[in-house]
Amino acid sequence: MASNKTVVLITGANSGIGYETVLALSEASAEFHIFLGSRSIEKGQKALENLQLAHGGSLKGSISVLQIDVTNQDSIQAAKEQINTQFEKLDVLINNAGVIVYQQVDKLTALRQAFETNVFGQMIVTETLEPLLKKAIKPYIIYVSSEQGSITKRLDPNFEHRAIRGESYRMSKAALNMLVACHRYNYAEWGCRVLAFNPAWCVTNLTGEQGREMRLKGGARNPREPAAALVDIVLGRRDGDIEMNGMVDVDGGVLPW
Ligand SMILES: NC(=O)c1ccc[n+]([C@@H]2O[C@H](COP(=O)([O-])OP(=O)(O)OC[C@H]3O[C@@H](n4cnc5c(N)ncnc54)[C@H](OP(=O)(O)O)[C@@H]3O)[C@@H](O)[C@H]2O)c1
Repeated sequence: MASNKTVVLITGANSGIGYETVLALSEASAEFHIFLGSRSIEKGQKALENLQLAHGGSLKGSISVLQIDVTNQDSIQAAKEQINTQFEKLDVLINNAGVIVYQQVDKLTALRQAFETNVFGQMIVTETLEPLLKKAIKPYIIYVSSEQGSITKRLDPNFEHRAIRGESYRMSKAALNMLVACHRYNYAEWGCRVLAFNPAWCVTNLTGEQGREMRLKGGARNPREPAAALVDIVLGRRDGDIEMNGMVDVDGGVLPW
């Protein structure tokens, strides 16, 4: 069924920045239908229940849970079919799912797992959904990247996170940035706005429970900040930044690749 709604899919939205972005978009406008992407349908349903319990009164845009594991092609294809059946188009894709792989596994496994989710998954999800994005009037593809993937910042002696090693994560986000550049070039002819987004250091589940505590103590941001910036992007308020050559930053402007 064709729809006048602005249809948004956020992957990895049962937690952290994705979850807060579902909330912020729904609070922003009744025009949105937001697919809360989750690799676990149970976690997705729980997240939606939490949203409705804690914020039911302020939710305007409609929300539904969509099972999508970005490393599983069958799951991605099924997600595409569900969006197509319900809306026949996708206006905004927020590729947010991501992992930091701990060094409890050997280095090669860590590298492979980081790339599998943070790079290969993003590419396959986007290219599978491309036909639905082409049907949108003003399509956006947003990749949640990281300043940790900036090659320029890696070599900047003043970068606050320079002491963190994290090669598998940094390399995967740098590769993701190249994917963004390729998709920006490839998709320009049909008017798609493609960008990498830096949410900055936030209190989320990305590094587990201990990491969450460390983030809280270390003054990491509330994930509502990047969620608000993502709403601005989706509403077209950051189109000038998207035209620039760099990662669109949560605080405005762009960061170097
Ligand atoms: N937090 C930060 O400081 C920070 C800084 C820069 C960039 N980022 C980026 O922000 C994005 C969101 O992370 P977050 O900080 O909000 O962490 P988070 O709370 O751990 O959220 C990550 C989400 O990704 C999901 N996910 C992982 N692998 C997946 C897969 N194969 N398929 C589908 N979903 C998958 C997780 O699902 P499960 O719950 O099932 O694991 C979870 O919902 C990531 O791309 C991350 O790299 C975060």
